[in-house]
Amino acid sequence: MAKVTIDGHTIEVPDGTTILNAARMIGGDIVPPAMCYYSPLKGSGGKCRTCLVEVSKGSEKDPRPMPKLVASCSTPVMDGMEVKNTTSPRTLEARKGVVEFLLINHPLDCPVCDQAGECHLQDLAFDHGAAKTRYEFDRRTFEKIDIGPYIKLHMTRCILCYRCVYTADQITGIRMHGVMKRGDAAEISTYIEQAIDNDFSGNVIDVCPVGALTDRTFRFKSRVWYTKPLDAHRECDKCCGKAVLWNVGDEIYRVTARKDQYGEVSEFICNTCRFEKKSMSDWTVEGPRKIDRHSVISANKYFEPIPEHTPLLNKA
Ligand code: SF4
Ligand code: FES
Repeated sequence: MAKVTIDGHTIEVPDGTTILNAARMIGGDIVPPAMCYYSPLKGSGGKCRTCLVEVSKGSEKDPRPMPKLVASCSTPVMDGMEVKNTTSPRTLEARKGVVEFLLINHPLDCPVCDQAGECHLQDLAFDHGAAKTRYEFDRRTFEKIDIGPYIKLHMTRCILCYRCVYTADQITGIRMHGVMKRGDAAEISTYIEQAIDNDFSGNVIDVCPVGALTDRTFRFKSRVWYTKPLDAHRECDKCCGKAVLWNVGDEIYRVTARKDQYGEVSEFICNTCRFEKKSMSDWTVEGPRKIDRHSVISANKYFEPIPEHTPLLNKA
């Protein structure tokens, strides 16, 4: 076991635990944000740098501070380590810089994006973003791509976190290479279209931290905060059959897997449950879903009366 102190909170964790997971065990505001790390996906993390923290004491044996900020999602704790996240001005400054970089190419189209209200980048920009961009050059833009009948890719919104690539690779059981080219030219490749035929391809929508991969059966139907989430299950021979229904009245607007407060899915669901079971008679409802996540979607908006005419957006 190793003892680690994060922003003044001390916890003992098994050897090999990362700083991020140790912080999650403590919980609360001291948990660094994570845009690319995703516990169920092997190899995820280390791409986005939003989880940077300052290690002010390396360990009991070697108390020297680490000279640079480290990615908390891929740095294991050492016994006696001391970490600063929200208490480190260097970390907060660096995080601002990371958000600025992420937003260089990401369009500010939240008003027409299905992910608005549950977008991790939106939350990150709210907490750490600058009011104005300093970027003067053209943003890179892409045509939207239909990845089969159910998924739409807005490459313009993608932050290249690789989560969908790992999902296609690990969950669908077929080897996929999703990111083509490098640097400014990098993009999610059409190879991922091969995931269309797979029963679990819809999970790339759930793991995407932004609105780059959206559900074509839900697009532009409603803002998420006008829908009511319900825990429900059904007998399914392909997956666990445990999902969240996002309803307006008795109409199921979309079906997703169940996510925790970090936006992580523990049990992935199949495409049949996600896209084809949109009738209440398909499901056994367990009750209202408690949304743990810190976001507009957990601000009690779900339980306000639904406006008579839920605003529909222009199809962009
Ligand atoms: S499409 Fe979404 S999940 Fe895939 S790399 Fe881009 S941001 Fe990440
Ligand atoms: S979450 Fe650690 S680098 Fe992205």
